[in-house]
Amino acid sequence: MCYCSSQCLAFAALLITCANACLHTRFARQPLVERQDTPLSALTPEETTLVEAISNTTISEWSYYYTHGAHLAGQNLTMAEWTADRWRENGWNSSIVSYDVFLKNPVNKSLSLTYSDGSIYQPSLEEAVLEQDDTTSYPNRIPTFHGYSASGSADAEFVYIGRGQQSDFARLIELDVPLEGKIAISKYGGPFRGLKVKNAQENGMIGVIIFTDTSDDGDITEANGYAAYPEGPARNPSAVQRGSVQFLSTFPGDPTTPGYPSKEGCPRADPSPVIPRIPSIPISYADAIPFLATLDGYGTTGAEVNRTGWVGALNVSYSTGPAPGSTISMTNLMEEVYTPIWNSIGIINGTIADETIVIGNHRDAWIIGGAADPNSGTAIIVELAKAYGSLLSQGWRPKRNIVLASWDGEEPGLLGSTEWVEEYIPWLTETAVSYLNIDIGASGPWPYIEASPELHTIATDVMKKVSWMDTGRNMYDIWLEYTGGSIGVLGSGSDYTAFLHRGIGSIDMGTGGDAADPIYHYHSNFDSYHWMSTFGDPGFLAHKSMAQYLSLLAYNLADQDGIQFDLPNYARQLEAYYEDLLSTIDSTSQNLDTSSLRSAIDEFSIGATEVQALEKQAVAIDDPELLTLVNHKYRDFQRGFVSQGGLPNREFYRHLIFAPGIDTGYAATTYPGITEALEAGNNSLAAEFVQKTADAILIAANIIKT
Ligand SMILES: *[C@@H]1O[C@H](CO)[C@@H](O)[C@H](O)[C@H]1NC(C)=O
Ligand SMILES: *[C@@H]1O[C@H](CO)[C@@H](O)[C@H](O)[C@H]1NC(C)=O
Ligand SMILES: *[C@@H]1O[C@H](CO)[C@@H](O)[C@H](O)[C@H]1NC(C)=O
Ligand SMILES: *[C@@H]1O[C@H](CO)[C@@H](O)[C@H](O)[C@H]1NC(C)=O
Ligand SMILES: *[C@@H]1O[C@H](CO)[C@@H](O)[C@H](O)[C@H]1NC(C)=O
Ligand SMILES: *[C@@H]1O[C@H](CO)[C@@H](O)[C@H](O)[C@H]1NC(C)=O
Ligand SMILES: *[C@@H]1O[C@H](CO)[C@@H](O)[C@H](O)[C@H]1NC(C)=O
Ligand SMILES: *[C@@H]1O[C@H](CO)[C@@H](O)[C@H](O)[C@H]1NC(C)=O
Ligand SMILES: [Zn+2]
Repeated sequence: MCYCSSQCLAFAALLITCANACLHTRFARQPLVERQDTPLSALTPEETTLVEAISNTTISEWSYYYTHGAHLAGQNLTMAEWTADRWRENGWNSSIVSYDVFLKNPVNKSLSLTYSDGSIYQPSLEEAVLEQDDTTSYPNRIPTFHGYSASGSADAEFVYIGRGQQSDFARLIELDVPLEGKIAISKYGGPFRGLKVKNAQENGMIGVIIFTDTSDDGDITEANGYAAYPEGPARNPSAVQRGSVQFLSTFPGDPTTPGYPSKEGCPRADPSPVIPRIPSIPISYADAIPFLATLDGYGTTGAEVNRTGWVGALNVSYSTGPAPGSTISMTNLMEEVYTPIWNSIGIINGTIADETIVIGNHRDAWIIGGAADPNSGTAIIVELAKAYGSLLSQGWRPKRNIVLASWDGEEPGLLGSTEWVEEYIPWLTETAVSYLNIDIGASGPWPYIEASPELHTIATDVMKKVSWMDTGRNMYDIWLEYTGGSIGVLGSGSDYTAFLHRGIGSIDMGTGGDAADPIYHYHSNFDSYHWMSTFGDPGFLAHKSMAQYLSLLAYNLADQDGIQFDLPNYARQLEAYYEDLLSTIDSTSQNLDTSSLRSAIDEFSIGATEVQALEKQAVAIDDPELLTLVNHKYRDFQRGFVSQGGLPNREFYRHLIFAPGIDTGYAATTYPGITEALEAGNNSLAAEFVQKTADAILIAANIIKT
């Protein structure tokens, strides 16, 4: 899947555009930041072994393997075994852990537009077959469809709903645009696509078409004179974004097993609270233009609707419609199955039994390729396993256990990781220190991270140890140039979600393009090995640098005497989120007593300073027992932030400091219980969550206090 980083919201001022499904922010590079030249930090002998073991040549071989066979969720056991075999031959204890999950496979679909004069437009619904790009013509290539979409048909006039957020619907209702019984046409971008469908369904609409818009493409468009892929870096006009329409912000994982692992024979719940009842179909921008053009002159123009992200870059007015008498006919047929999925799990046992670092990436893709999403990350973790193999063969053992995971079924709804966390939660609660996620490990030359605050310092320090691609500069300086030093807040959209909401701190990382880099065809057949090796990362050097980064980050977390967490930074972030909360209270003109939250943050802040001092003392006097005590506080404190009952109407999401926004899916909301109650105008609920959040922070503070 992917993620829209919270950066989309938090650093809106920096954005040129938020890619496609809001993969992550396409930052404007920072012209005002002085070019930095931080020297590379020195490496230990073990770190040198790791860095030198990583080769762009083998990474490109792994990439080629993963991008030349179908690997939708639950459809390629061979690939799962091949992954475990690579790890095993490098010294990791590896096995396959499977779950039995509910899925829907695409059978067939149709879509047409009948104009009021009776003439018909029939979109192709297919992506172009390109001679240069071998996997675009594979006979078993995957059709364009939405995961977990409903079977059904609809025949009605249609309305353009912008990006399909609740606030877009509020505007449509204000403008008296009829919604009941109509079909929606929505632009990708902004909220997670499943929420567009959910909102349409809740407004009485009967089907949804979602199209890609070139407004997500920065400067790199055919309109600006760039050739389209495969000749050039612009978007191929036929590219379609597949993807899940599960209601991600309610809960991820198998829709029929909320809160428990999907083992064969387990009880099954009704999935309808988290998957749509109305059909939906994704289309390309080329296919979308005639639909949108039909609405020109009807309803309210996009300029008058006047909402963020409503008007795109196509040559139409983005009018609401409906156009009387012009109708869409759509059918969508899906086959419901219960089917195994396969996680590959590798383990290096550390010398400390009860401290564990987990590293993960998903393996399943919507297409034969998947060179960026997710198999850039997969190639990187296979190379990481190989690099650790060099250390193991020297007789090295880490202090902490390292678990390596290749998740299946991420794309339909974070299935493999969520079910695994639900199965191993007692052990994870006892031992997990951090979860390190890599999904789109490389889709351009610029690195970014999102992380829980205890990891900010180690994550940026380790960047100073990585020489970035062939630039002669270190990763830290490149990252600073791209992001201005911003670290995103984790929302959802990738496999860290189940970990984080059980109180296991996480980081997510990757690379992307800026507004001047080639367009990344997210969830399209053009996310292929050919695209990657000609446009996305020719030479596989971003892959190589990211493999070095992830290997070194894991090494530093797993093998230093003291766990490298920065809790004073966590306290500072709690403070910053608190300031944001005060602004939300202001902007919603409500009265809310937040003094208990205020004093809980102060308590946490005191504890953070104390535990940091204790760690320094333990290291200075070389007291292993004291260090173990500190390390266990670091390991455990974040469990305090999770609340048993979870957030209102979404029990899965338990972290009270950040969660995916209920109407964003990808982007994070901070102090979500309080903030969303305020936004909904429910003051008593907000007050209840001030107390719950304060209590949670006090529990965490008590864990770290000395
Ligand atoms: C599984 O993936 C491998 C590697 O890409 C490929 O060779 C194989 O054909 C795929 N299997 C199926 C059943 O598609
Ligand atoms: C889809 O398949 C079903 C069953 O094979 C068939 O009845 C239906 O006509 C097909 N619909 C389309 C749009 O191809
Ligand atoms: C659009 O909305 C903004 C506030 O959201 C307002 O300041 C501006 O005047 C509006 N423009 C038009 C053309 O209505
Ligand atoms: C945009 O559409 C209008 C009306 O359909 C047409 O006259 C004009 O030539 C188009 N402009 C471009 C740049 O295609
Ligand atoms: C793998 O398991 C074996 C047997 O349980 C054990 O001896 C070995 O140390 C393990 N290897 C690693 C890398 O943890
Ligand atoms: C490795 O660790 C796992 C989990 O703690 C444990 O079950 C297993 O026995 C360990 N293996 C060895 C060889 O220490
Ligand atoms: C690996 O990188 C080198 C430059 O450092 C480059 O010459 C080579 O072509 C790259 N290999 C692959 C397979 O892209
Ligand atoms: C506020 O939230 C509570 C708890 O979910 C709910 O029972 C109550 O009806 C809500 N009140 C309003 C005014 O929406
Ligand atoms: Zn992904």
